[in-house]
Amino acid sequence: MIRRDVIIIGAGAAGLFCAAQAGARDRDVEVLDHAKKVGRKILMSGGGRCNFTNMYTSPENFLCDNPHFCKSALSRYTQWDFISLVAEHGIAYHEKTLGQLFCDDSAKDIVDLLLNECNKAGVTITTRCEILKVEKIESGYSLSTSNGDYECESLVIATGGLSMPKLGATPFGYKIAQQFGLNVLATRAALVPFTLHDKDKEALAELSGIAVDVYASCNDTTFKEAMLFTHRGLSGPAMLQISSYWEAGDTLSINMLPNEDALSFINSARSETPDVLLATCLTKVFPKRMVQCFIEYQGWRNVPIKQLSHSECEALANVLENWQVKPNGTEGYRTAEVTIGGVDTNELSSKTMMAKNVEGLYFIGEVVDVTGWLGGFNFQWAWSSGWAAGQVV
Ligand code: FDA
Repeated sequence: MIRRDVIIIGAGAAGLFCAAQAGARDRDVEVLDHAKKVGRKILMSGGGRCNFTNMYTSPENFLCDNPHFCKSALSRYTQWDFISLVAEHGIAYHEKTLGQLFCDDSAKDIVDLLLNECNKAGVTITTRCEILKVEKIESGYSLSTSNGDYECESLVIATGGLSMPKLGATPFGYKIAQQFGLNVLATRAALVPFTLHDKDKEALAELSGIAVDVYASCNDTTFKEAMLFTHRGLSGPAMLQISSYWEAGDTLSINMLPNEDALSFINSARSETPDVLLATCLTKVFPKRMVQCFIEYQGWRNVPIKQLSHSECEALANVLENWQVKPNGTEGYRTAEVTIGGVDTNELSSKTMMAKNVEGLYFIGEVVDVTGWLGGFNFQWAWSSGWAAGQVV
């Protein structure tokens, strides 16, 4: 039997960061993970360059049943703290867009940073370790694993969400929460592409690969980013962002002319170039392939623009700036970046991440019902929540 001060289950972003913090306080820490490799999602993230934080991180960038919960951790370990650590490790990085910071070279730099910090702090990391049973004992917790039995004073659950089961995601964290009587909020895939109903999918399939800037809105939330047509449906940052606010059955509203008023655009085309075909007018603002496809899909008349009636112009403008799309669903956990829902934050201390009614049991990272927008916010939550627990475990 191995006895440790702290056992952390999950060697991902939150678990490794928490381990380094606790180890630096001279706690005897071991991280257990069932996967062969640590930090697999980090390695895959940001197209292999890891969008490790966002310069503009604030609590408004997170979804949570209790929007105040994330404030404490985010303010005590901020994006600037993590950026300093990245700089200390000599990792070159750059802002891609909207405050999103990426490694210049490789996401592996971030995994190496975490492993170096763990190494400096004397943390033991054990991979390929299945957790078979967790029990509360008087001195803390006992674990039975494929690597033998353990006991610890503090147990940290950092097993993440359900997205990308191929990268080792499991519902383990939710099951442990339930075992100890904690409420777990319903989960669903987020930051995920939409799939379309067959009719729309077939009509728009030929647009696969085309990206346009849009305002995407759903349930009182709007994002201005790029939308990408795919052979299954709609993706790109605008769609991934709005997917977090979408629930089955909801309709999306998409403004495909985010930088101008659609009716004014059409009216000025009518007065300036009245003899020009509708398709030609529209190619001023959309790719040609998209114009041809939309004319057929919407049943617009491709005639000299002066021949369109006022009501036709209004209907056209309405589609351009308020295209109503009812997705069939999403691509689900297979391709989602994150999971919405999870361990109910009402069960946890926002300062320490410890379960309010279960001494010594902590939940950090994505397993908790805190979900960031696309853009480095989810890693920042992993660092901030891992840091908060790392100070006290
Ligand atoms: P994480 O998932 O990182 O780690 C959980 C660990 O627990 C894993 O190592 C897993 O093997 C282990 N585990 C699970 N079940 C277990 C069990 N039963 N027993 C033992 N171990 C178990 N975010 C961001 O901010 N910027 C970005 O660029 C990206 N990019 C991105 C790309 C892709 C493809 C995905 C899927 C996700 C992202 N994300 C992201 C989201 C980000 O990766 C995610 O929010 C964090 O990794 C969450 O960190 P955690 O440590 O909570 O879980």
